[in-house]
Amino acid sequence: MLTLSTVQFAPIFGDKPPNINRIHDFIDSLQSDIIIFPELCTTGYFFQTNEEAIAAAELFSGETITALQLKSTERNQIYVIGFAELGEDGNAYNSAALIMPDTNLTAVYRKTHLFYKESNCFAAGNTGFFVVEDTKRDVKIGVMICYDWRFPEAARSLALAGADLIVCPSNLVTDVWHIAMPARALENKVYLAVANRIGTETGGGEELVFKGDSAIWGYNGKIMAKSGVDEESVLTVTIDPTQTRNKSFNAFNNIFTDRRPEMYK
Ligand code: ACM
Repeated sequence: MLTLSTVQFAPIFGDKPPNINRIHDFIDSLQSDIIIFPELCTTGYFFQTNEEAIAAAELFSGETITALQLKSTERNQIYVIGFAELGEDGNAYNSAALIMPDTNLTAVYRKTHLFYKESNCFAAGNTGFFVVEDTKRDVKIGVMICYDWRFPEAARSLALAGADLIVCPSNLVTDVWHIAMPARALENKVYLAVANRIGTETGGGEELVFKGDSAIWGYNGKIMAKSGVDEESVLTVTIDPTQTRNKSFNAFNNIFTDRRPEMYK
Protein backbone atom coordinates (compact mmCIF):
# COMPACT_ATOMS: atom_id res chain seq x y z
CA MET A 1 0.00 0.00 0.00
CA LEU A 2 1.22 3.48 -0.75
CA THR A 3 -0.12 7.01 -0.82
CA LEU A 4 -0.44 9.05 -3.96
CA SER A 5 -1.23 12.77 -4.25
CA THR A 6 -2.05 15.06 -7.16
CA VAL A 7 -1.43 18.79 -6.84
CA GLN A 8 -3.64 21.26 -8.71
CA PHE A 9 -2.57 24.90 -8.80
CA ALA A 10 -2.09 27.87 -11.16
CA PRO A 11 1.53 28.30 -12.27
CA ILE A 12 2.48 31.81 -13.36
CA PHE A 13 3.63 32.05 -16.96
CA GLY A 14 7.24 33.16 -17.40
CA ASP A 15 8.01 33.52 -13.70
CA LYS A 16 9.82 30.40 -12.57
CA PRO A 17 10.93 31.25 -9.00
CA PRO A 18 7.41 31.55 -7.50
CA ASN A 19 6.28 28.41 -9.34
CA ILE A 20 9.24 26.43 -8.04
CA ASN A 21 8.70 27.79 -4.53
CA ARG A 22 5.07 26.67 -4.69
CA ILE A 23 6.15 23.19 -5.75
CA HIS A 24 8.58 22.97 -2.81
CA ASP A 25 5.91 24.28 -0.41
CA PHE A 26 3.41 21.67 -1.57
CA ILE A 27 6.01 18.93 -1.18
CA ASP A 28 6.96 20.14 2.31
CA SER A 29 3.31 19.90 3.36
CA LEU A 30 2.76 16.35 2.04
CA GLN A 31 3.88 12.98 3.39
CA SER A 32 2.67 10.98 0.38
CA ASP A 33 4.89 8.38 -1.31
CA ILE A 34 4.19 9.80 -4.79
CA ILE A 35 3.28 13.42 -5.65
CA ILE A 36 2.18 14.41 -9.14
CA PHE A 37 2.28 18.01 -10.40
CA PRO A 38 0.81 19.49 -13.64
CA GLU A 39 2.39 19.74 -17.09
CA LEU A 40 4.87 22.64 -17.58
CA CYS A 41 4.27 23.76 -14.01
CA THR A 42 7.66 25.43 -13.52
CA THR A 43 7.19 27.84 -16.43
CA GLY A 44 3.51 28.03 -17.33
CA TYR A 45 2.09 26.72 -20.58
CA PHE A 46 1.23 29.07 -23.41
CA PHE A 47 4.53 29.59 -25.23
CA GLN A 48 4.14 31.16 -28.67
CA THR A 49 7.48 30.44 -30.32
CA ASN A 50 10.29 27.94 -30.25
CA GLU A 51 12.74 30.70 -29.20
CA GLU A 52 10.57 31.54 -26.21
CA ALA A 53 10.36 27.88 -25.15
CA ILE A 54 14.10 27.36 -25.57
CA ALA A 55 14.83 30.48 -23.48
CA ALA A 56 12.67 29.14 -20.62
CA ALA A 57 13.77 25.50 -20.90
CA GLU A 58 16.23 23.86 -18.51
CA LEU A 59 18.45 20.83 -18.72
CA PHE A 60 17.19 17.74 -16.93
CA SER A 61 20.50 17.93 -15.05
CA GLY A 62 19.86 21.63 -14.24
CA GLU A 63 19.17 23.48 -11.03
CA THR A 64 15.39 22.88 -10.76
CA ILE A 65 15.40 19.11 -11.12
CA THR A 66 18.63 18.76 -9.10
CA ALA A 67 17.03 20.57 -6.13
CA LEU A 68 13.93 18.37 -6.40
CA GLN A 69 16.12 15.28 -6.66
CA LEU A 70 17.84 16.20 -3.39
CA LYS A 71 14.45 16.63 -1.77
CA SER A 72 13.20 13.31 -3.16
CA THR A 73 16.19 11.44 -1.75
CA GLU A 74 16.06 13.27 1.59
CA ARG A 75 12.30 12.78 2.06
CA ASN A 76 12.11 9.39 0.35
CA GLN A 77 9.29 10.49 -1.96
CA ILE A 78 8.64 10.16 -5.68
CA TYR A 79 7.81 13.33 -7.65
CA VAL A 80 6.44 13.72 -11.17
CA ILE A 81 6.81 17.28 -12.43
CA GLY A 82 6.04 18.75 -15.84
CA PHE A 83 8.75 21.14 -17.03
CA ALA A 84 10.16 22.73 -20.18
CA GLU A 85 13.27 20.69 -20.89
CA LEU A 86 16.26 21.83 -22.88
CA GLY A 87 17.56 18.65 -24.50
CA GLU A 88 21.27 17.96 -24.98
CA ASP A 89 20.38 18.28 -28.69
CA GLY A 90 19.34 21.95 -28.21
CA ASN A 91 15.63 21.22 -28.67
CA ALA A 92 12.95 22.27 -26.20
CA TYR A 93 10.74 19.39 -25.04
CA ASN A 94 7.49 19.37 -23.12
CA SER A 95 8.74 16.89 -20.51
CA ALA A 96 7.95 15.35 -17.16
CA ALA A 97 10.67 14.45 -14.68
CA LEU A 98 10.01 11.21 -12.79
CA ILE A 99 12.18 11.87 -9.77
CA MET A 100 12.92 8.80 -7.67
CA PRO A 101 14.68 8.75 -4.27
CA ASP A 102 17.27 6.45 -5.87
CA THR A 103 18.92 8.75 -8.43
CA ASN A 104 19.71 5.78 -10.69
CA LEU A 105 15.99 5.37 -11.33
CA THR A 106 15.18 9.02 -12.03
CA ALA A 107 14.06 9.48 -15.64
CA VAL A 108 12.59 12.00 -18.04
CA TYR A 109 9.59 11.46 -20.31
CA ARG A 110 9.15 13.76 -23.33
CA LYS A 111 5.56 14.32 -24.48
CA THR A 112 4.86 12.17 -27.52
CA HIS A 113 1.72 13.83 -28.90
CA LEU A 114 1.97 17.61 -29.03
CA PHE A 115 -1.27 19.58 -28.63
CA TYR A 116 -2.45 22.68 -30.51
CA LYS A 117 0.31 25.32 -30.82
CA GLU A 118 2.84 23.25 -28.86
CA SER A 119 4.34 22.06 -32.13
CA ASN A 120 5.37 25.71 -32.83
CA CYS A 121 7.38 25.65 -29.62
CA PHE A 122 8.49 22.13 -28.72
CA ALA A 123 10.06 19.17 -30.49
CA ALA A 124 7.98 15.99 -30.46
CA GLY A 125 9.09 13.69 -27.64
CA ASN A 126 11.57 10.94 -28.46
CA THR A 127 11.77 8.96 -25.22
CA GLY A 128 8.79 6.71 -25.96
CA PHE A 129 6.69 5.21 -23.19
CA PHE A 130 8.57 3.46 -20.42
CA VAL A 131 8.04 2.27 -16.86
CA VAL A 132 10.18 2.80 -13.77
CA GLU A 133 10.07 0.25 -10.97
CA ASP A 134 10.55 1.09 -7.31
CA THR A 135 11.29 -2.34 -5.85
CA LYS A 136 11.24 -1.11 -2.26
CA ARG A 137 7.73 0.25 -2.63
CA ASP A 138 6.79 -2.50 -5.10
CA VAL A 139 5.29 -0.16 -7.68
CA LYS A 140 5.84 0.35 -11.40
CA ILE A 141 5.06 3.84 -12.66
CA GLY A 142 4.53 5.05 -16.23
CA VAL A 143 4.13 8.67 -17.35
CA MET A 144 2.12 10.23 -20.14
CA ILE A 145 1.45 13.96 -20.54
CA CYS A 146 -1.93 15.60 -21.12
CA TYR A 147 -2.98 15.17 -24.80
CA ASP A 148 -1.27 11.73 -24.85
CA TRP A 149 -4.58 10.62 -23.27
CA ARG A 150 -6.31 10.86 -26.68
CA PHE A 151 -4.25 7.93 -27.91
CA PRO A 152 -5.20 4.65 -26.24
CA GLU A 153 -1.81 3.37 -27.43
CA ALA A 154 -0.11 5.58 -24.83
CA ALA A 155 -1.76 4.02 -21.78
CA ARG A 156 -1.69 0.59 -23.44
CA SER A 157 2.06 0.83 -24.08
CA LEU A 158 2.64 1.76 -20.45
CA ALA A 159 0.41 -1.05 -19.18
CA LEU A 160 2.07 -3.62 -21.46
CA ALA A 161 5.44 -2.41 -20.13
CA GLY A 162 4.16 -3.33 -16.67
CA ALA A 163 2.80 -0.08 -15.22
CA ASP A 164 0.62 -0.46 -12.12
CA LEU A 165 0.09 3.28 -12.04
CA ILE A 166 -0.11 5.73 -14.93
CA VAL A 167 0.40 9.37 -14.02
CA CYS A 168 -0.58 12.21 -16.32
CA PRO A 169 0.68 15.74 -15.61
CA SER A 170 -1.74 17.93 -17.55
CA ASN A 171 -2.82 21.40 -18.67
CA LEU A 172 -6.22 20.35 -19.98
CA VAL A 173 -8.50 22.92 -21.59
CA THR A 174 -11.46 20.64 -22.35
CA ASP A 175 -13.63 18.30 -20.28
CA VAL A 176 -13.87 15.29 -22.59
CA TRP A 177 -10.91 13.50 -21.03
CA HIS A 178 -13.16 12.66 -18.07
CA ILE A 179 -15.02 10.30 -20.42
CA ALA A 180 -11.86 8.51 -21.58
CA MET A 181 -9.68 8.26 -18.47
CA PRO A 182 -11.80 5.71 -16.57
CA ALA A 183 -11.78 3.54 -19.70
CA ARG A 184 -7.97 3.79 -19.90
CA ALA A 185 -7.82 2.63 -16.25
CA LEU A 186 -10.35 -0.18 -16.72
CA GLU A 187 -9.14 -1.54 -20.06
CA ASN A 188 -5.55 -1.74 -18.75
CA LYS A 189 -6.39 -2.54 -15.12
CA VAL A 190 -4.15 0.19 -13.78
CA TYR A 191 -4.47 3.12 -11.42
CA LEU A 192 -4.53 6.42 -13.29
CA ALA A 193 -3.85 9.87 -11.80
CA VAL A 194 -4.29 13.18 -13.64
CA ALA A 195 -2.81 16.34 -12.08
CA ASN A 196 -4.35 19.20 -14.04
CA ARG A 197 -3.82 22.92 -13.54
CA ILE A 198 -6.18 25.82 -13.03
CA GLY A 199 -6.08 29.48 -14.05
CA THR A 200 -5.87 31.27 -17.39
CA GLU A 201 -3.08 32.32 -19.72
CA THR A 202 -3.11 34.65 -22.71
CA GLY A 203 -0.84 34.65 -25.73
CA GLY A 204 -1.10 35.66 -29.38
CA GLY A 205 -4.42 37.40 -28.63
CA GLU A 206 -5.95 34.19 -27.30
CA GLU A 207 -6.95 33.14 -23.80
CA LEU A 208 -6.67 29.57 -22.54
CA VAL A 209 -8.73 28.49 -19.52
CA PHE A 210 -7.35 25.45 -17.73
CA LYS A 211 -10.09 23.20 -16.43
CA GLY A 212 -8.78 21.76 -13.14
CA ASP A 213 -10.87 18.75 -12.16
CA SER A 214 -7.78 16.65 -11.36
CA ALA A 215 -8.76 13.08 -10.59
CA ILE A 216 -7.54 9.63 -9.61
CA TRP A 217 -9.16 6.43 -10.88
CA GLY A 218 -8.83 2.91 -9.52
CA TYR A 219 -7.91 -0.09 -11.68
CA ASN A 220 -11.63 -0.91 -11.98
CA GLY A 221 -12.27 2.46 -13.67
CA LYS A 222 -14.04 3.87 -10.61
CA ILE A 223 -13.20 7.39 -9.48
CA MET A 224 -11.30 7.52 -6.17
CA ALA A 225 -10.93 11.29 -5.76
CA LYS A 226 -11.66 14.45 -7.74
CA SER A 227 -10.79 18.15 -7.39
CA GLY A 228 -12.98 21.12 -8.30
CA VAL A 229 -12.66 23.01 -11.59
CA ASP A 230 -11.12 26.24 -10.35
CA GLU A 231 -9.66 25.70 -6.89
CA GLU A 232 -6.18 24.94 -5.74
CA SER A 233 -6.35 21.42 -4.40
CA VAL A 234 -4.45 18.32 -3.33
CA LEU A 235 -5.99 14.86 -3.69
CA THR A 236 -4.56 11.98 -1.70
CA VAL A 237 -5.51 8.31 -1.99
CA THR A 238 -4.07 4.98 -0.88
CA ILE A 239 -3.34 2.46 -3.61
CA ASP A 240 -2.29 -1.19 -3.66
CA PRO A 241 -0.23 -1.66 -6.85
CA THR A 242 -0.19 -5.46 -6.50
CA GLN A 243 -3.93 -5.52 -7.25
CA THR A 244 -3.33 -4.45 -10.87
CA ARG A 245 -1.13 -7.36 -11.88
CA ASN A 246 -3.51 -10.25 -12.42
CA LYS A 247 -5.13 -9.27 -15.71
CA SER A 248 -7.65 -12.16 -15.61
CA PHE A 249 -11.24 -11.29 -14.76
CA ASN A 250 -12.75 -14.78 -14.96
CA ALA A 251 -11.51 -18.34 -15.44
CA PHE A 252 -11.35 -17.88 -19.23
CA ASN A 253 -10.43 -14.26 -19.91
CA ASN A 254 -7.34 -12.19 -19.43
CA ILE A 255 -7.20 -8.69 -20.91
CA PHE A 256 -3.56 -9.06 -21.92
CA THR A 257 -3.32 -12.67 -23.11
CA ASP A 258 -6.67 -12.38 -24.95
CA ARG A 259 -5.23 -9.60 -27.11
CA ARG A 260 -4.80 -10.47 -30.81
CA PRO A 261 -2.38 -7.87 -32.17
CA GLU A 262 -2.24 -9.70 -35.52
CA MET A 263 -5.90 -8.68 -36.05
CA TYR A 264 -5.30 -5.01 -35.23
CA LYS A 265 -4.57 -3.45 -38.59
C1 ACM B 1 -2.60 19.53 -23.59
O1 ACM B 1 -2.01 18.58 -24.11
N1 ACM B 1 -1.95 20.44 -22.87
C2 ACM B 1 -4.06 19.66 -23.70
